[in-house]
Amino acid sequence: MSSMLTNPLRVGLRQERVIAPQCLVIFGASGDLTHRKLVPALFELFRQRRLPSEFAVVGCARRPWSDDDFRARMAEALADTIAEHKHAWERFSQGLFYEPADLSDTSTIAKLGERLDAIDRQRATRGNRTFYLSVSPTFYGSGTRALANAGLLADADRSRVVIEKPFGRDYGSAQELNRIVQACAKEKQIFRIDHYLGKETVQNILVLRFANTIFEPIWNRNYIANVQITAAETVGVEERAGYYESSGALRDMVQNHLTQMLALTTMEAPGRFDPEAMRNEKAKVLQAAHLANEEEPWKCCVRGQYGTGGSKANPIAGYRQEPGVNPNSTTETYVAMKLFINNWRWQGVPFYLRTGKRLPKRVSEVVLTFREAPVHLFDAAGGAPTANQLILRIQPDEGAEFRFEVKAPGSGMRSRPVDMAFSYDESFGEPSDEGYVRLLADAMLGDPTLYTRNDEVEAAWRLYTPLLELIEDAPWQLPVHPYEARTWGPAAADALLADDGLGWRRP
Ligand code: BG6
Repeated sequence: MSSMLTNPLRVGLRQERVIAPQCLVIFGASGDLTHRKLVPALFELFRQRRLPSEFAVVGCARRPWSDDDFRARMAEALADTIAEHKHAWERFSQGLFYEPADLSDTSTIAKLGERLDAIDRQRATRGNRTFYLSVSPTFYGSGTRALANAGLLADADRSRVVIEKPFGRDYGSAQELNRIVQACAKEKQIFRIDHYLGKETVQNILVLRFANTIFEPIWNRNYIANVQITAAETVGVEERAGYYESSGALRDMVQNHLTQMLALTTMEAPGRFDPEAMRNEKAKVLQAAHLANEEEPWKCCVRGQYGTGGSKANPIAGYRQEPGVNPNSTTETYVAMKLFINNWRWQGVPFYLRTGKRLPKRVSEVVLTFREAPVHLFDAAGGAPTANQLILRIQPDEGAEFRFEVKAPGSGMRSRPVDMAFSYDESFGEPSDEGYVRLLADAMLGDPTLYTRNDEVEAAWRLYTPLLELIEDAPWQLPVHPYEARTWGPAAADALLADDGLGWRRP
């Protein structure tokens, strides 16, 4: 034990996790993500003393703001946090700058280059730069090219680019985008972000599986009957109709967040915990995944769209009534589907994925249902014993739960299910960091373990190609079923599981 603690390799790894002097450049600085997630995450890193003192954030957008305008906007957005950490904000905000820049206008990018050189001198950031593209996805390719043409990605050891999701719109466009960005920078400089991978509980799927011995022997088709992966949201489309109308739940949530949860749940153990070994395994399992029925995809997928709901006192608008949404929109706000993974571990085990907006509860979870006991010796509450379930609670109430049968008290020998639960909150007593805190730190450290590699993102798109093509070519075969806001989605999604003699877990 003590030899493990003093292992020089471990000490070395720990020392490496110090962020070098750094300038983080955010394109899309006037957008939602910057003030809702990115700057709060950076401020959190600052307060945790994880940022170097030689640090700068440069916001870039088309608006002609000054540094002070940018600082004031950010201060306004973070007012509640700042109220409790005034001094920290004063120090942090001295490192915030703003430069008007337009990724499609080379002269502004050249000017940005000069400004970054000046900031390097002023803040001693030594030319280490992380460019974050929080812009419309249509600019990911041309934006990366503009940075490369201005020479800003030339130093492969000091410059990186973080690209938000969705990375492409389908398999073909993701391949094309990969070609473009890889012509501008080395793969080690490209960080394709999926904020679900920043969540503590998503990373915990790996630790639970590979730091314990009891799960791995039963983590396969011999013991697991089926797996459900859910990401349910109570919110609607909010102010994002412009983006969401051309995206829908399949591109917005399934291809990335749900697929990443699927990959971590099903991948093989990597040979060692390093970025390439990890990403090899994720890519490999996604390459083996396929829709339950690729020839007739409408048989294994249900799309839905929320209608009006709520109460008289608190009515909720339907999707088609939301600002900016086409009143005849056929964009899906809910998807449920069935997949298989064609490999030795998972052959024949159905994976059911679902996600939706305006559902009754905000909950993301992975539920592994084990096979039933082969013989029922005891009477059970409800007729038959409940199959054992391991529930990985991604959010909220982060933790895990194991459901098994015990003897119900009293005479006789009846069994009843009980839950054994682990809660992050109870065990560790402090809230987990937001996903962006971990991911921004990792990008600045140059650690891509929790970022998706080119082959992985392509495999994730390829998996859904039959559905995307169907929606494009014959949408009537995959209609959007209306569902009332604050209900668990369309009845057709229940039927998808009922056909297999199953039901969705009610979280
Ligand atoms: C984003 C999607 O990536 O994830 C949003 O674009 C969605 O539509 C959000 O609301 C959900 O993230 P979280 O962390 O709240 O589950």
